[in-house]
Amino acid sequence: MQNNKTEIQKFPPIVKDFPHMIHGADYNPDQWLSMPEILKEDVRLMKLAHMNAVSIAIFAWKALEPEEGVYTFAWLDELMDRLAANGIGAVLATPSGARPAWMDAAHPEVLRVSANRVRNLHGQRHNHCYTAPYYREKVRQMNRMLAERYGKHPALKLWHISNEYGGDCHCPLCQEAFREFLRNKYQNDINALNDQWWTRFWSHEFSDFDEIESPSPHGENQIHGLHLDWMRFVTAQTKSFMENEIAPLRELTPDIPVTTNLMGTYEGLNYWEMAPIMDVISWDNYPQWHNDSVSDSQVACRIGFIHDINRSLKKKPFLLMESTPSQVNWQPVNKLKRPGMHALSSIQAVAHGADSVQYFQWRKGRGSSEKFHGAVVDHYGKEDTRVFREVAKLGADLEKLDEIVGTVTVSETAVIYDWENKWAIDHLQGLNQHRDYEPTCVSHYKPFWDMGISVDVNCMTEDFSPYKLVIAPMLYMTKAGVTEKLRSYVAEGGTLVLTYCTSYVNENDLCYLGGFPGELMDVAGVWAEEIDPLYPTDTNSITLYNADRVYFEKERYTCRDFCEIIHAKEGAEVLAVYDSDFYTGMPAVVRNRYGKGTCYYMAARTEPAYLRDFYRKLAAELNLQRLDYTEIPDGVSVQTRCGNGAQYDFIMNFNPDSAVVEGVSGTDVISGENLQGQCRLQAYEWRILRRS
Ligand code: GLA
Ligand code: ZN
Repeated sequence: MQNNKTEIQKFPPIVKDFPHMIHGADYNPDQWLSMPEILKEDVRLMKLAHMNAVSIAIFAWKALEPEEGVYTFAWLDELMDRLAANGIGAVLATPSGARPAWMDAAHPEVLRVSANRVRNLHGQRHNHCYTAPYYREKVRQMNRMLAERYGKHPALKLWHISNEYGGDCHCPLCQEAFREFLRNKYQNDINALNDQWWTRFWSHEFSDFDEIESPSPHGENQIHGLHLDWMRFVTAQTKSFMENEIAPLRELTPDIPVTTNLMGTYEGLNYWEMAPIMDVISWDNYPQWHNDSVSDSQVACRIGFIHDINRSLKKKPFLLMESTPSQVNWQPVNKLKRPGMHALSSIQAVAHGADSVQYFQWRKGRGSSEKFHGAVVDHYGKEDTRVFREVAKLGADLEKLDEIVGTVTVSETAVIYDWENKWAIDHLQGLNQHRDYEPTCVSHYKPFWDMGISVDVNCMTEDFSPYKLVIAPMLYMTKAGVTEKLRSYVAEGGTLVLTYCTSYVNENDLCYLGGFPGELMDVAGVWAEEIDPLYPTDTNSITLYNADRVYFEKERYTCRDFCEIIHAKEGAEVLAVYDSDFYTGMPAVVRNRYGKGTCYYMAARTEPAYLRDFYRKLAAELNLQRLDYTEIPDGVSVQTRCGNGAQYDFIMNFNPDSAVVEGVSGTDVISGENLQGQCRLQAYEWRILRRS
């Protein structure tokens, strides 16, 4: 048992004086104002569903300001009062995610311009210019009015800033702001920019910052440094738009936390940059359960990885802001969650550190594009539905989890998943098309998910020192300072795992001279001379020297997609070699002692079984803390949260069949039952066990 874990203090609840799991949904009463009986019925149903909070006004601008300067808050006043009177909290949104038609007509500069330089027409959502001063001003004003009006309202629990920020704008205002961003970054020195972007290639050198345009399909799109700086600018501009939204709220309601709903590994924004201005991280989770290509447990593992990113962004509890109670409307096949999956999928979020389960949406609208998106309340309108019953049952269970609110996840292992690295990998020309950065990170995470060992998922600039083990799959880009940090991490006794495609480029995608892996050659003990990208049907294999058969099931494992041809430096130990092709017998896995620590280098993309066995051995050698369950069956996930003297083990069966877990011990937090030894879980069943 992990004694030190029980000394850990909980975090205070996200919402002050609200020490409960939040159970709620996106609620759009503004679509139903002409049917007051529905609005009344909503509250009755919310109580039956054990909901304690709803997210409101997310897209309500037109309902709040029907014409410029004319405000209609009465409906929201009434709603806030009704929620408060019924003990339901409000997660009050700022409405910037969509604009009324009058605004776009009168101020067309708020309409976004695409990379092809065509300005959008009015419509859709999430498509405003982040720079336009009018919109920024308008949003600040609106947010101020909301804060003034509802800042002290008893229903107000949390600010939901806009909705799913994303995308970019290429309008003249944004172009100018981008040039300003570049002037700052390169200290007004155009030659510094030319050097970093390698613009002498194809005579693309700039003589002035004014000549620079954002990337475009019919303009500049192959300067990788430009692309990276544009992505960074888009994050910075979105962040500054969000800061502008938050300013009046911070001023008037300093005690009300702010969040915005993130979108998992959405690639357009570097969430590590945005996290510091949020009080709490929240995200929208829509897994494709029961699909026809991968098993539910594979889906669950990837979702676990993303939950862990969200927890790692602040190293504290986060919110599951959206999920569907049944199905969505935008996947190729919008399959229903099978009975039990809704609760399991929700509890998985809690297991990884969420202090809420929230949905999109409370009630299905009658028309427009989301009318067939799952909801707690169907068009049918009453509570006697399968989905409603599952939601209500889960709500009742969540009410028993107060003691888990604020508890902590302790990780001794970190996997690096870095947005800027992803941008660079995805945009480079070369290698092969199966770069698969995110799936590769997930494949290195999965062995830990299988073993029930918790993992933080960090960006490349996070502090490595708290971890016994740091795994940096395909760390193609090493930004300034990162190699030094990794070097001292290993020198001080850390264990680092690197793979093919490590440290090829700096933060502007300029290749390191003198051999790969760039400045990490000494730490890794290898020189990667070439990389052989394979066709999807090609395979090679690696053979292990002295395979420790306690952990390694085989001596030979296949590999595909990437075989880097590496040389082990003097003193580095070759653990495996290639079996075929012209690099037969050359090193494929190398271990290098560096200072007080160790670096492993995997030159090939191996089959998952190798990663499983490799990390099993490493986990034992490093004595990584895990539950003392003898064996966790396939498809069963075990996660742990702890705090104030207690530890909570979440045991979740993602299999469509029953599974038996041996060696469990603790009190079931929901049923109160004491469990020792064997625990049988039905399909999609879960348990939370408390140990003191
Ligand atoms: C997103 C949005 C919601 C809704 C859902 C549908 O997460 O934030 O407004 O459109 O998708 O799944
Ligand atoms: Zn713009």
